[in-house]
Amino acid sequence: MTGASRGIGCAVAHALAARGATVGLAARSTSDLERLATELPGSHHPLTCDVALPASIAAAVEEFVTAAGGLDLLVANAGIAHYEPVAVQSLENIEQMTQVNWLGTVHTIKAALAHLLAQGRGHIVVVSSGVGLRPFPGAAAYSATKAAQRMFAEALRHELAGSGVSLTTVYPGEIRTSLHSHELSRMPDWYRGGEKAATPEALAKRIVKAVERDSRHLHYRPLVKGMGMLNGVSPRAADAVLRRLRGPTAAPRRD
Ligand SMILES: NC(=O)c1ccc[n+]([C@@H]2O[C@H](COP(=O)([O-])OP(=O)(O)OC[C@H]3O[C@@H](n4cnc5c(N)ncnc54)[C@H](OP(=O)(O)O)[C@@H]3O)[C@@H](O)[C@H]2O)c1
Repeated sequence: MTGASRGIGCAVAHALAARGATVGLAARSTSDLERLATELPGSHHPLTCDVALPASIAAAVEEFVTAAGGLDLLVANAGIAHYEPVAVQSLENIEQMTQVNWLGTVHTIKAALAHLLAQGRGHIVVVSSGVGLRPFPGAAAYSATKAAQRMFAEALRHELAGSGVSLTTVYPGEIRTSLHSHELSRMPDWYRGGEKAATPEALAKRIVKAVERDSRHLHYRPLVKGMGMLNGVSPRAADAVLRRLRGPTAAPRRD
């Protein structure tokens, strides 16, 4: 479980531990992982690692497989966000999101896939985003990393046909976590975080269910699915709906 130290990953770790799973808690913040491991019912493994570094996440996966005797579920969830217009956004911020969100997902899956295939069973969850289905201004680079995850995951699910290993892609809308805590003062007008956002616990419950059902994807809240579908059929219609729901900054162009 990458990104386990807080937010969605921490909530999924709680949901899995409550079902009796042994969870590998992967992130960079060792003390948060160690605290979580003691809070959760059962016995769990804090795994300090950086998903941007292939050797680091590979070592974490090896450590878990050795300690737990195998791997049933891999959740590629670690992520970061920098919401800024492209014109002012630093290349460094764009590259960091690429390294963590997109390549970090690749590194995580590459580290675990051979184990899962050798077992002939297991499941992968990729936590993408609703903005991977319909991007928003101010989140161009972030949305691109989430769309990259989406394409990779959807193709991989097909590649895994008949292997005993499967994959679910998750498309959350706005979830109440610390993802944007470092940039609250510069969030775009269309953003609706805070109290109006869904809780990570509600999403975590649905992620566990989606794994049990081997769902191709999970959209949460359901409006995310509707907007993604509408955007695929008519981006202009999706723009119009989003302007009504989120105001003019969600889709400033009308052509
Ligand atoms: N919150 C939302 O509204 C929302 C909506 C759609 C999708 N998502 C996606 O959901 C996922 C989880 O985000 P969240 O909302 O739970 O954010 P969060 O509360 O900020 O948690 C992010 C997690 O990722 C870990 N992480 C960040 N960089 C890492 C790295 N280089 N290596 C390993 N772990 C790293 C963090 O731990 P450390 O800092 O300790 O490493 C933390 O555990 C992300 O992929 C995000 O894009 C979130």
